[in-house]
Amino acid sequence: MKTTSAVLAATALAGSAYAQANIGSIAQTALSYLSPTCLQTVIQLSSNGSALNTCLDGSLLESIVLGNGSIIAPVGNYLDEFCSSQPCSNETLTNATQTLLSGCASDLTKFGVTNQTIEFVVAQYPLARDVLCLKTTDPFVGNGTSSSNMTSMMNSTSSSNSTNGTFCATSLLTEFQSYLGEDLTISNIATIALGGNQTALDTIKSIPPTALCDECVFGALSLVEEQYPQLGNITLGNYTLNTFLTGTCNATNGTEFTLSTNGTLPTNVTESAVNSTLIPMNFTMPQTNLSIPTQFKMNSSASSTGAVESVLSSVVATASGSAVTAMKKRWIGQQ
Ligand SMILES: *[C@@H]1O[C@H](CO)[C@@H](O)[C@H](O)[C@H]1NC(C)=O
Ligand SMILES: *[C@@H]1O[C@H](CO)[C@@H](O)[C@H](O)[C@H]1NC(C)=O
Ligand SMILES: *[C@@H]1O[C@H](CO)[C@@H](O)[C@H](O)[C@H]1NC(C)=O
Ligand SMILES: *[C@@H]1O[C@H](CO)[C@@H](O)[C@H](O)[C@H]1NC(C)=O
Ligand SMILES: *[C@@H]1O[C@H](CO)[C@@H](O)[C@H](O)[C@H]1NC(C)=O
Ligand SMILES: *[C@@H]1O[C@H](CO)[C@@H](O)[C@H](O)[C@H]1NC(C)=O
Ligand SMILES: *[C@@H]1O[C@H](CO)[C@@H](O)[C@H](O)[C@H]1NC(C)=O
Ligand SMILES: *[C@@H]1O[C@H](CO)[C@@H](O)[C@H](O)[C@H]1NC(C)=O
Ligand SMILES: *[C@@H]1O[C@H](CO)[C@@H](O)[C@H](O)[C@H]1NC(C)=O
Ligand SMILES: *[C@@H]1O[C@H](CO)[C@@H](O)[C@H](O)[C@H]1NC(C)=O
Ligand SMILES: *[C@@H]1O[C@H](CO)[C@@H](O)[C@H](O)[C@H]1NC(C)=O
Ligand SMILES: *[C@@H]1O[C@H](CO)[C@@H](O)[C@H](O)[C@H]1NC(C)=O
Repeated sequence: MKTTSAVLAATALAGSAYAQANIGSIAQTALSYLSPTCLQTVIQLSSNGSALNTCLDGSLLESIVLGNGSIIAPVGNYLDEFCSSQPCSNETLTNATQTLLSGCASDLTKFGVTNQTIEFVVAQYPLARDVLCLKTTDPFVGNGTSSSNMTSMMNSTSSSNSTNGTFCATSLLTEFQSYLGEDLTISNIATIALGGNQTALDTIKSIPPTALCDECVFGALSLVEEQYPQLGNITLGNYTLNTFLTGTCNATNGTEFTLSTNGTLPTNVTESAVNSTLIPMNFTMPQTNLSIPTQFKMNSSASSTGAVESVLSSVVATASGSAVTAMKKRWIGQQ
């Protein structure tokens, strides 16, 4: 499971000028930043046969990162396995977290990452699994006029296990790929993430807000907002996220989009995760003061172009910025 390192690498290298990102060299550069003890810890945690590698289906995860083509079909194959196999146990997650925190203590300090941040991220596993394992019987299958490669697009939706539908993740990635007009390969993604393709960045900014009017998006938000109700109240210009979505999506194509915030899924969306470990929040959350980093505060009209990007940044900022002690307590057993 070299994925983590690849992601770290992409982050570490952000800002460098790269014509076309090479995932091998990115990963190598990232690993060279780690201390020998931490590197050893990462290798141990991700080695074949480790409890973590097993419950995260590490080898399939690796095939997503190491492939040359569009990631959509490999993601579908991965989710087939990931969602139908047993979830990581609390013990596995707790153990892996502790191993990482002690093995990489000095590295985390060096990069300014606190133990609490790592614990918070790990504590999102049950939610992340359930969101990733959502399926839809009404997937995006291309708009017929898209300039992107229809052959690879059609393959991507049909290749994954279609029992009870297509994974929302592959449906949304397919739609995104169709907007982008080029295959979502790891190399292309890394290039775009590192700021190396201005055309692609402009294309992403021009995706209309109505792209969010998708049952998969509403299903995912229902699960997320059940855990983090404050998220619906983040502001985008004059609107909160929830009013923006219901307003935008109510006005389009006559479909009734109802934003549920209690885990209820839209008509065509189902949960495919076997033995979900997500605990429904049917108690009132302790009121946390949410402070969204100023760079994410919007003052532009929410209906202007770039709204999709704005929504995503705000969601990320809110989810990572809020200290949700209750979640950590339940999953990590620490403050
Ligand atoms: C915790 O992880 C370490 C390293 O992977 C392993 O040696 C140990 O057996 C694990 N302990 C439990 C209780 O799973
Ligand atoms: C982070 O966790 C590790 C392992 O439990 C511990 O050794 C270290 O002291 C912790 N660091 C802080 C700042 O609490
Ligand atoms: C549909 O195709 C057009 C033309 O290529 C493209 O500009 C547009 O973004 C596509 N729409 C979607 C939803 O992919
Ligand atoms: C579409 O993708 C397939 C598989 O990746 C490739 O063989 C084919 O050449 C591509 N076609 C175009 C027009 O890019
Ligand atoms: C797409 O599907 C066709 C037919 O199943 C297959 O022959 C082809 O190899 C697939 N292409 C890719 C890129 O997976
Ligand atoms: C699809 O998933 C179901 C449930 O996990 C499984 O029983 C079936 O064998 C899978 N089919 C394929 C083709 O992978
Ligand atoms: C940049 O992205 C566009 C699609 O948005 C693609 O057509 C083009 O080939 C990409 N350029 C590079 C250098 O990757
Ligand atoms: C969201 O805002 C509304 C109106 O200000 C308020 O009534 C509600 O309690 C807020 N919800 C949360 C979870 O903060
Ligand atoms: C959507 O619009 C219809 C007609 O304007 C209205 O009756 C309905 O209450 C709206 N639904 C939501 C969720 O705003
Ligand atoms: C398909 O959906 C049905 C009804 O919701 C459910 O009982 C079954 O377990 C699902 N199968 C898979 C493979 O998700
Ligand atoms: C927000 O509302 C105020 C007062 O209603 C209005 O003057 C302003 O133009 C609005 N701003 C946006 C971005 O919609
Ligand atoms: C997970 O394990 C920790 C530490 O062993 C424990 O405190 C916590 O209650 C457990 N959580 C669940 C949901 O079992």
